Amino acid sequence: MRALHLPGVPSGQKPLFSFPDKPPSPSHLTYTAADYPLPNPPASSSEHTYQIRNLLTALTRGELTWEEILAPACFHPHGGAIPGHDVVGMIEKVIPASTSHADPKFKQGDKIWALLDFDRDGAAATYAIAKESELSLAPKKPESEEISDEEWYERLATLPLSGLTAYQALFTHGNLPLPTTSPSTTPQKRVLILGAAGSVGLPTVQLAKAAGFSVVATASASSSHAIQPLLNPSTDTLIDYTAADYTSLPSSFHALALTSVDLVVDCIGGETLSSLLLTTTPPLSSIINPGSKVITIVAPIKVYRPTISAQITSNCANAGVDVKFFIVKPSGDELDVLGRWVREGKLKGHVHGARVFDLEHGREAMEVTEARGRKGGGKVVVRIARE
Ligand SMILES: NC(=O)c1ccc[n+]([C@@H]2O[C@H](COP(=O)([O-])OP(=O)(O)OC[C@H]3O[C@@H](n4cnc5c(N)ncnc54)[C@H](OP(=O)(O)O)[C@@H]3O)[C@@H](O)[C@H]2O)c1
Repeated sequence: MRALHLPGVPSGQKPLFSFPDKPPSPSHLTYTAADYPLPNPPASSSEHTYQIRNLLTALTRGELTWEEILAPACFHPHGGAIPGHDVVGMIEKVIPASTSHADPKFKQGDKIWALLDFDRDGAAATYAIAKESELSLAPKKPESEEISDEEWYERLATLPLSGLTAYQALFTHGNLPLPTTSPSTTPQKRVLILGAAGSVGLPTVQLAKAAGFSVVATASASSSHAIQPLLNPSTDTLIDYTAADYTSLPSSFHALALTSVDLVVDCIGGETLSSLLLTTTPPLSSIINPGSKVITIVAPIKVYRPTISAQITSNCANAGVDVKFFIVKPSGDELDVLGRWVREGKLKGHVHGARVFDLEHGREAMEVTEARGRKGGGKVVVRIARE
């Protein structure tokens, strides 16, 4: 098969790359045009698995440096890990579970979308292996939608990793109610989203609005055009962290007399998060309601210097605020929910730039992904094949 992959390692030798000290760069990616070995299904599995014929994938900044990607077991004489854990593709083959007697949920020819778990090869290749629990039928384009089918699925390819991260931050770890709960019995929740214009921030804002929450979002002036249309000026607030009069989030909350929030979703970390969690004037409890959570997707609080991390822990405990870091998990069931919102126009993926890269230009696609740095504007998409 065709594949974009890290270079292989002759048997008996150590990989050139390792986590965390020797990460590869995008220029190390290699494209093999034919005869790359097919991915192996698991030797035994308690759930059905599927060989997927990949159509589209999206690349994630930093993915070549992840621990799972650089595990020594990922390197073989023919190649290393294959990137691109977002996938839109077709079921090519059903591989029945060794122990389950339930019928497979999907059949050959079904069009699916998924986040493939990070301990397995990604989708920047002709085929990938997916577990049943990762898969969801790709939502079809509604007739009212004016974009082409191609563009519909390209947008969809940007959503599994980012959309599931947003979903799990708000509803799984953030414990906010899913919109199935009757609005009349649910008091309106308020969410502060740090880095709202990013790949994860944008779906977080969209899901929060789909769920009926009010939103305080941070973004630069240059990215505000992507967020402003999602917000309701009478209930939501956009804070421009690049404005001349911006000093910190706590001072913006104070200056704008904003009501405290029920959840913080942090996509920025670093100084932005620490300056919020360390605030005493105004007190943290005037920004985040006691009993609420701060969900960060960037890094656990222990990555700060020990003195800072101890001060954060103490200030949060005094305010009754719980801080949690998590890593997104694949979920076909959650993608089913996201797919409904995509069809209803409540959630939209964003493709970076005007170009979708072909697989043979995958290295360039990863170079663009990394060179953009921490900037909003969607994910870089790679097309592997057409239906
Ligand atoms: N834990 C998980 O499962 C998980 C999953 C996905 C991603 N992540 C991590 O989450 C983070 C965000 O990912 P992403 O894909 O959303 O990133 P991204 O698309 O690169 O966006 C990051 C956003 O950060 C904003 N930004 C940059 N510097 C800022 C600053 N000083 N203050 C406030 N905002 C700033 C930019 O906003 P403007 O455009 O407004 O300038 C940009 O939109 C990354 O660290 C990523 O590795 C974790």
